Amino acid sequence: MLSRERAWELLAGQGQEPHMLHHALETEAVMRGLARRLGEDEDLWGVTGLLHDLDYHETKEIPEEHAMRTAVMLAGQIPEEALQAIKAHNGERNGIMPSTRFDYALRCAETVTGLISAAAMVRPTKLEGLGAKSLKKKMKDKAFAAAVNREIIKECHQLGLDLDDFLEGAVASISSVADQVGLQ
Ligand SMILES: [Fe+2]
Repeated sequence: MLSRERAWELLAGQGQEPHMLHHALETEAVMRGLARRLGEDEDLWGVTGLLHDLDYHETKEIPEEHAMRTAVMLAGQIPEEALQAIKAHNGERNGIMPSTRFDYALRCAETVTGLISAAAMVRPTKLEGLGAKSLKKKMKDKAFAAAVNREIIKECHQLGLDLDDFLEGAVASISSVADQVGLQ
């Protein structure tokens, strides 16, 4: 299993744009929070969150290859269940649909980061005081962060979490890395 340190070196070595590194760190934080909450392997879920978009710089124009290439790059370095979760986070385009709790966690985590960071950006106090009520309002506003798939966020029920609970936990997790992702 890849250490967190090696995983970061691997990601940082791809020359991705800062916003993608922020997205990776936010996804890692949400995955760690979920793993703690659900009694799963925090390092495994965290490293998988960190690396899930590893191929992004080379698959921007070929979305059906996104995640498939990451799985090839990481084969033998992280467990099969993590490779599966990575592929299923892009299931709508590559046909690998989610089935395990790990799969759903990664989909929900990586999607909710888009909603939360967009919401925090436009608030003077950023993440501080950002609650589920206001995030749910943003989810209903189709024009707000339009690329964020609301249906995937709602898959949190597959983790046994209701939406409020999931959203609040995700804000708390991202707050723990706020200084590293430009949300302080
Ligand atoms: Fe992602």
